[in-house]
Amino acid sequence: MPNLLTIVFKKLKGGGNKSNNQKSNNQGKETPQTEVPQQVIQAQKKQRSDFEFGKILGEGSYSEVVQAIEKTTRKEYAIKILTKRQMIRENKQKYVMRERDVLARLNHPFFVKLYFTFQDKERLYFGLSLAKRGELLPYIHKVGSFDEITTRFYAAEIVLALEHMHSLGIIHRDLKPENILLNEEWHIQITDFGSAKILEADSTDGIVRANSFVGTAQYVSPELLTTNRTERVEKSASKCSDLWALGAIIYQMSAGLPPFRAGTEYLIFQKILKLDYVFPDGFPEKAKDLVQKLLVIDPKKRLGCNECGGYAELKEHQFFQGVNWENIHKQTPPALKPFTMLDGEEIHSDYYVDDFNILSNSLSEDFQKINTNETENYEKTHSRKYVLDPTSQERTQLLLKQEKDVKWHQFVNGNLILKMGLLDKRKGLFARRRNFLLTEGPHLYYVDPERMILKGEIPWSRTMKVEAKNFKTFFVHTPNRTYYLIDPEGYALEWCRAIEEMMHYTYKS
Ligand code: ADE
Repeated sequence: MPNLLTIVFKKLKGGGNKSNNQKSNNQGKETPQTEVPQQVIQAQKKQRSDFEFGKILGEGSYSEVVQAIEKTTRKEYAIKILTKRQMIRENKQKYVMRERDVLARLNHPFFVKLYFTFQDKERLYFGLSLAKRGELLPYIHKVGSFDEITTRFYAAEIVLALEHMHSLGIIHRDLKPENILLNEEWHIQITDFGSAKILEADSTDGIVRANSFVGTAQYVSPELLTTNRTERVEKSASKCSDLWALGAIIYQMSAGLPPFRAGTEYLIFQKILKLDYVFPDGFPEKAKDLVQKLLVIDPKKRLGCNECGGYAELKEHQFFQGVNWENIHKQTPPALKPFTMLDGEEIHSDYYVDDFNILSNSLSEDFQKINTNETENYEKTHSRKYVLDPTSQERTQLLLKQEKDVKWHQFVNGNLILKMGLLDKRKGLFARRRNFLLTEGPHLYYVDPERMILKGEIPWSRTMKVEAKNFKTFFVHTPNRTYYLIDPEGYALEWCRAIEEMMHYTYKS
C-alpha cells in the first residue's frame, strides 16, 4: 500500500516532468489560470545514481539545492532535494506541491526551469536549470551598489519577469535579491516559489482571500503586516505585493542597502507601516521617482497594478526611458564594475567583477609575479616603512607602550598597530566614519570611533588588491567585496603603500 509520502509526490507528478529536450508547447502563451499543467511523460524516470553531485548552492530547513551533472549527457543542473520526513514534520507538503506547480507553469527565460522530478524513499528531487553566477545579492555587496545603467537593466528584466508571472496568475510573495539568480550570460533567473500563490480563476484584481505572513521582512509589503487575523484575511496578498518588493529591490540596487533597515524584524515592520525610509545623497532622481511610486502604502496606488495602468504604465516610467523591452534577454547586460561617489562624482575601478574567481585568479598571478622575479626589485625600490621587524624584546616594549598610550589597543588582540587613522567607509551610497587599524598578523580592523565598538575587519588574502583612485579615495578588493575608503585628510596613497607593504612581507615566501 502506498504510504503518505508516495501519495504526496504522486500528486506532484504532472507538467514539468519533461525530458531534457522536450519543450513546453505553450511558450509565449498564457496558461489559463485554472488549467492543470499538461502532463508530459518522461521517457525514462531519472534517479539519483544518474547524477554526479557537486557543491551545495543553497540550504533551507527541509531542502537543499545541489549542483549536479547528468552522467550520460554531461548536462548540468541545480537539483533541489527535499527531505520527506522533514517536510512532513514542518507540514510543508502544500508549499512543495505549489512550488512544483508554479515551476511547471512558468516557461520564460527569466525563471529557473523545471526539467524533471523524481523521488526515492527519503527524498524528492526537482531538476532545475543551473544559474551559474548564483544570487544577485552578493554582487550588490561586492560592488557596493549598481550604477544607474545597471540598475535600469536589471529592474527592466525583473519587470518583464513579473509581468509574465502575473499574467499567469502567479504571485511570488518572496521576491528579493537572494531569489534572483544570474545565469552564465548574467541574465536573471528568478527562483524559489515555495511562498508563491496561484490566484483563483475568479479573482480579477489579483486579491486572494486568506493569507498569513510569508516572505522576508525587508521586502514585505505593508498590507501583509496587519497583526489582527481578521484584518489579515481581508487585506491580502495580490500582485501589488510583488510590486512593493520591486520598489525595495530597485532601491537596494541603487543605494546598496534595502530601504527599511533595523535591528529586528519587528522594528523593520514598524518602519514599513510608517513608510519610514530616506534616500541617501546621490540616489538617481528618476530611480527615486519610480521607487516612490512603488513603495506606496495603498496597494492599489502602486505603479504597475491594474488600477494604475498596469505594466504598460510602469514600463513607460521615465527611469526606463531607452529600454528596448522586446529582446532584453538577448541583450548583453552591463558589466558589473566597482564604483563609488565622491562629491557627486562617480569614481570607477579599473577592474570588472566578471566573476569572483576570475578576479582572484588575475590577482594571484600578480602576486606570483611579485613572489618570483619581482621580490628583490620590490625591496630595492620600496624601503620598509610600516612593516617593522622588531626583536622580541623591542616588540614587548612597543606593545607595553601601545597598551598604555593608545586607546585603540583594546580592539587589536595584542597585535602591534602599524598604521591607524579615520577613514570614511562607503557601502553603496552610504558612508560611515571608522577608525582603521592596520596591525601585524596582518589585520585591518575598523572601529566605530563614537561608540568605541569594533565593527569588523577587512579579510586578508593573497588575492587582496589595493587600488588608489586619487589622494582621498582608494579601493581594497577582496574576493567577496570591494571596500571603498575615503581618507578626508588625503593620505590614500599612504594607506595603499602600507597595505601593499604588508602584503609583500606576508606573502613573499
Ligand atoms: N541556488 C538555488 N537555486 C539555484 C539554481 N537553480 N542555480 C544556481 N544556484 C542556485
